[in-house]
Amino acid sequence: MKITITGSLGHISKPLTMELVQKGHAVTVISRKPEKQKDIEALGAKAAIGTMEDPDFLAATFRGADVVYLMEAMGAGSFFDQNFDIMAAHTKIASNYAQAIRQSGVKRVVHLSSIGAHTDKGNGILAFHYNVENILKQLPNDVAIKFMRPVGFYYNMLAFIQTIKAQGAIVQNYGGDEKEPWVSPLDIAAAIAGEIEKPFNGREVHYIASDEASPNEVAKILGEAIGKPDLKWSVIPDGQSLNGMIAAGFNPQVAEGLVEMNASRRGGVLYEDYYHNKPVLGKIKLKDFAKEFAAAFNQ
Ligand SMILES: NC(=O)c1ccc[n+]([C@@H]2O[C@H](COP(=O)([O-])OP(=O)(O)OC[C@H]3O[C@@H](n4cnc5c(N)ncnc54)[C@H](OP(=O)(O)O)[C@@H]3O)[C@@H](O)[C@H]2O)c1
Repeated sequence: MKITITGSLGHISKPLTMELVQKGHAVTVISRKPEKQKDIEALGAKAAIGTMEDPDFLAATFRGADVVYLMEAMGAGSFFDQNFDIMAAHTKIASNYAQAIRQSGVKRVVHLSSIGAHTDKGNGILAFHYNVENILKQLPNDVAIKFMRPVGFYYNMLAFIQTIKAQGAIVQNYGGDEKEPWVSPLDIAAAIAGEIEKPFNGREVHYIASDEASPNEVAKILGEAIGKPDLKWSVIPDGQSLNGMIAAGFNPQVAEGLVEMNASRRGGVLYEDYYHNKPVLGKIKLKDFAKEFAAAFNQ
């Protein structure tokens, strides 16, 4: 099949490209950077250099594809840009994708969405995923779409390193002994590669997760990996978390969205729809990620 991949050689798109090429598909990978062309070609794929902000480029690149994989990427540092409007930025990219799909005539889409995309209420920053899914759902009915909803990525835990080093603890506005799901980009790539090859049928939602662990279990596993077996996960009030993020330079809309998102983890509100549609867990476990975490911690 001819498959076009957005997300360059990112955490998901690189292993996805490798698997699809290995399975014999003709893969085109979109990157903003001309210097990535040789790395993309080294994987056996074709490079298309352009951006998600350019609907004409997207339409030209999607034309003739049997399947396109869509994800929305924000530039590094956008969470600290005081003028950044996360909802508007995602609406723009989603609208560009919808326009490009109409213009190119592509009929099969796999979209990287997220946990929390089932609602725009009480899930904080994740409401933009609900909005993006709704923009894509307005495409004509003969465009089949698989909405892939991974849970929180393990790599988000790398943000814990700062408070572990500064305060000797993981510090968040949620915590405790209730298990929650986590996922590896490698398991996401494998799930997407699998869905690309399976039949498409209207609009479908697929959750993706690798492992389930409570915050206190996360602290124990990461703590052991970095030689601090007594590492604790400490819970602070929402307001204190918000003030800390704003003091650290976060865009206020993003900071409020992240605090509300984390608050919705308490009592499992965020995970309601996930638990009704629970996937088979992937291969990469928290203990595997803990080795990567320890390497980053010791760097
Ligand atoms: N973190 C979580 O817990 C979580 C949970 C659920 C869903 N998600 C979703 O997962 C996504 C991240 O996936 P990932 O880790 O695979 O991505 P990633 O590694 O951050 O890679 C995205 C790549 O896209 C390219 N890119 C960035 N801006 C672009 C633009 N404007 N136009 C064209 N290409 C652009 C960049 O490569 P070049 O520099 O080569 O262009 C970048 O390396 C998030 O955006 C979010 O929507 C995240």
